[in-house]
Amino acid sequence: VIVHKGEHRHFMAKEIHEQPKVVEQTLTQYIDCRKATIRLPKNVDLDFRKIDRVSITACGTAFYAGMIARYWFERYAGLPVELDIASEFRYRDVPFGAGNLAIFVSQSGETADTLASLEFAASHGQRVLSVVNVQTSTMARASQIVLPTLAGPEIGVASTKAFTCQLATLACIAIAAGRDRGVLHAEDERSLVRALGDIPRHMMRALELEPKIRQLARKISPARDALFIGRGTNYPLALEGALKLKEITYIHAEGYAAGELKHGPIALVDKDLPVIVIAPHDATFEKTMSNMQEVIARGGRIILLTDQRGAGLAADGAWSVLELPDMPQIVTPLVFAVPLQLLAYHTAVVRGTDVDQPRNLAKSVTVE
Ligand code: G6P
Repeated sequence: VIVHKGEHRHFMAKEIHEQPKVVEQTLTQYIDCRKATIRLPKNVDLDFRKIDRVSITACGTAFYAGMIARYWFERYAGLPVELDIASEFRYRDVPFGAGNLAIFVSQSGETADTLASLEFAASHGQRVLSVVNVQTSTMARASQIVLPTLAGPEIGVASTKAFTCQLATLACIAIAAGRDRGVLHAEDERSLVRALGDIPRHMMRALELEPKIRQLARKISPARDALFIGRGTNYPLALEGALKLKEITYIHAEGYAAGELKHGPIALVDKDLPVIVIAPHDATFEKTMSNMQEVIARGGRIILLTDQRGAGLAADGAWSVLELPDMPQIVTPLVFAVPLQLLAYHTAVVRGTDVDQPRNLAKSVTVE
């Protein structure tokens, strides 16, 4: 398959902009739009009532998708989740239980450590489910259950659209699990599914922030370090935002749980440190705002990524505010990922780095 950049300067830009479309494609596979219910493909033989635990294993960006899904499996399905980086999981002495569902997440389906972990779990009699973007991949072939993401070929080394499609798929699995286990009622399922259906529309709005982000990128491009903070699902998103920035701009970036700021990273705060605060208006909003104030009081430069309600409530003092529309909590990770990707992308463009082929990185890591 030959893939072109079209009107875009880089594959990464093209792939960021494709997200409303490919997330919709991916969701269409798992949603019955008319009934607003989750409908996993017929060949998926999975009884969530027999599952009492989930493990999720992956590398890189796919790992952060899994980390967000942990919150969903707990919240919507009441399932405990064991989460691990593939290069750790495979060497641990994991006590495999009978009722465990082992989920592996991978864009390429070829990452050596994830594949080895999958084979390790399968050899211990685990139910193996993979969420992969390449349906002909080794991982897909080695799995009992495959739930594909329909992101299409992803060329940029830094993963973008594969990530949001992984999230869309994992959200559907978590909702199906919650329904089948009796944790979610029919009306809960319908409202969650309707919320998922609105993601493409919200993503279009997120893409409209691009001119503002392009300007902001100029302001943060001289930075040596950057910090990303958030709570709940915004915490793994902070890790992903930091990963995107460091991968393609070479600015050292760290993601942190906002509540952990005071246990270390606050020591780094000065006027040269951009701190990206990811805080839609949710149950932890006030707490994150007080973390933000701690940074402001120490002269840190805040970039606040929030929604309309959050922007209305946040005190002044931020360097810049990126505002998205209000939306249900389940969709925020997918939509808030977009401005983070754009921020990394435009900062890389300002710095003149090789966006699609960053130094020392590979698209698919087939060595251990
Ligand atoms: C590499 C890529 C990342 C990707 C990771 C996992 O490090 O540069 O973008 O997230 O591998 O790849 P996978 O294909 O398993 O999702």
